[in-house]
Amino acid sequence: MNKKAIWIDCDTGVDDAFALFTALKIEELDILGISVTDGNTSLDNGFRNTRNVVSLAGKEDIRIYKGANKPLIGKSAMDASEFHGEDGLGGVILPESKAEVERKLAWDALYEAVKNSKEKVTVCAIAPLTNIATAIAKHPDIVDYIEEINMMGGAAAGGNTTCCAEFNVYHDPEAAENIFKSGIPVNMFGLDVTMKVNFSRADIKEMETYGNPVAEALKEMVKYPLAYLDTVSYQNDICLHDTLPILYAVKPELFKGEKCAVYAETQGSITRGKTVTDLWTDFKFEDRHCRLFLDADREEIVKITKEAIKNY
Ligand code: RIB
Ligand code: CA
Repeated sequence: MNKKAIWIDCDTGVDDAFALFTALKIEELDILGISVTDGNTSLDNGFRNTRNVVSLAGKEDIRIYKGANKPLIGKSAMDASEFHGEDGLGGVILPESKAEVERKLAWDALYEAVKNSKEKVTVCAIAPLTNIATAIAKHPDIVDYIEEINMMGGAAAGGNTTCCAEFNVYHDPEAAENIFKSGIPVNMFGLDVTMKVNFSRADIKEMETYGNPVAEALKEMVKYPLAYLDTVSYQNDICLHDTLPILYAVKPELFKGEKCAVYAETQGSITRGKTVTDLWTDFKFEDRHCRLFLDADREEIVKITKEAIKNY
């Protein structure tokens, strides 16, 4: 089988866990490595969560690397503990991974992996973009080895952290801007499409019947965010935000996107973290190397997620 070489950069919270458990069951993927940044929770929590999720999935051979503990500029921005819990996984304690702790830093490990890969690598960024931006800054020729960046982040319209900013971009807008200006093709899975791919409470009820350790862990993990969602009006279900950039690497036919330009606002007082696109205007940016996704086959994505979780 001709596998697709990818690298995953995450900030393991609950939806990152769904994405990782799904990705680790997709045979067409060759996951060269996983890196972790601060975001949903602290870097240390995210690193521990990622190691333990990958270990629970039975994939301790996949190496996991620590990266940034704060955004590029300024002190650590807000986390998303109101949704993911202080520890990042809704308070669920997973069995401790026995894998060796990697000492190499995320940006160096990513650079080595893509440089040594026989084919160009797709980077799936499902967290603030700090690690990816740092890798580009420290190793500028890395752009020659990356096919494209599939990112979960931003929103052509709206926001989930401010009225116009999505969490991953809001957490580190400078990093996002560096990615958009890097010249690497970017496939942006913003809230415009990810909010349409909900894993409903009925889907969770079905998952509860699977009975394997992964399904049991996810069943407990979702309780914290669902309790939070009961207190807000903008969202009722958990959304599979982070699954989308990974699935696109092997099933692009499930998604509908438009070529455009996207840049991140870093200077605005009320607009900081907004992703600005020229998709719906005649006033186009000069450099347009993004594809912004607006629609996806929710049913098929949920089916793939369920099948992955069921088969552990
Ligand atoms: O806005 C959703 C994104 O922010 C997801 O990646 C979630 O894990 C959080 O990091
Ligand atoms: Ca994430």
